[in-house]
Amino acid sequence: MSHAAMVRSAPVIELKDIKVTYNSRGGSLFKPNKVHAVDGVSFSVSRGETVGIVGESGCGKSTLASVLVGLQKPTSGQVLFHGKDAKNRGAAGRKEFGRTVSVVFQDPSTALNPRMRIQDILTDPLQVHGIGTKASRAAKVKDLLALVGLPASAAEVTPSQVSGGQRQRVAIARALALDPDVVVADEPTSALDVSVRAQVLNLLSDLKTELNLGMVFISHDIQTVRYVSDRIAVMYYGKIVEEGGAEQVFDHPSNDYTKKLLGAAPSLLHP
Ligand SMILES: Nc1ncnc2c1ncn2[C@@H]1O[C@H](COP(=O)(O)OP(=O)(O)OP(=O)(O)O)[C@@H](O)[C@H]1O
Ligand SMILES: [Mg+2]
Repeated sequence: MSHAAMVRSAPVIELKDIKVTYNSRGGSLFKPNKVHAVDGVSFSVSRGETVGIVGESGCGKSTLASVLVGLQKPTSGQVLFHGKDAKNRGAAGRKEFGRTVSVVFQDPSTALNPRMRIQDILTDPLQVHGIGTKASRAAKVKDLLALVGLPASAAEVTPSQVSGGQRQRVAIARALALDPDVVVADEPTSALDVSVRAQVLNLLSDLKTELNLGMVFISHDIQTVRYVSDRIAVMYYGKIVEEGGAEQVFDHPSNDYTKKLLGAAPSLLHP
């Protein structure tokens, strides 16, 4: 059995009964209103699969994403990273987590420093993790740019000098710099021009296959999620109300909310 096939079955990240509660802005200091942004979610992702998370605005998708990538501590519940409780990890464990799981945000204009050269944006994670030599890092930048379909000359310019679609490719390249096991993409095409959305989705699909990545793909648009996902989780008010194979969820939705999502307005991607 190949190494890739061996690791596929074991989840890289596993969430067990995760809850995230915020004090909402409406409450007072002594009697805060609670928002149950994530309300008892169990979820896992392995290498080689794309799991789509879909649900309408405010249902808790980004909050769940931030728990998945270790940016947010859950109010309760367990985060397992390669089968071990992430809570007990020390500095080295946190570093490994950051290396293994990366994130692509919605808007590359704000996610990337517009004044940094793309070369430096892509070498920054390698430097932070003390990986490679100057020469090997430069070679890595070349590889990363080729991987996401950008010309080598892009290294010399800044994000503000390339198009929105190209900027998102840079953000994807940066997410791949440390050879992660899992990439979490939170609405990665929503801020992009309609004409380049499909290209970026195809790129993510191709990368998943080529690199045997685990991918969590988050969108409010069920058509977009279907396009890329092997498995789909439907979120509603902080809970996963339906989960299953993409075809099953699409063709035989069991939940009323899923049916409603499927019946909603046609997506911009597939008008
Ligand atoms: N830092 C915060 N403080 C208080 N409430 C928050 C905070 N972040 C999110 N919320 C609330 O938690 C809920 C879930 O928000 P979240 O951003 O996770 O939803 P989402 O599904 O990503 O929405 P969208 O599709 O608009 O991106 C919302 O009610 C939101 O207002
Ligand atoms: Mg969000």
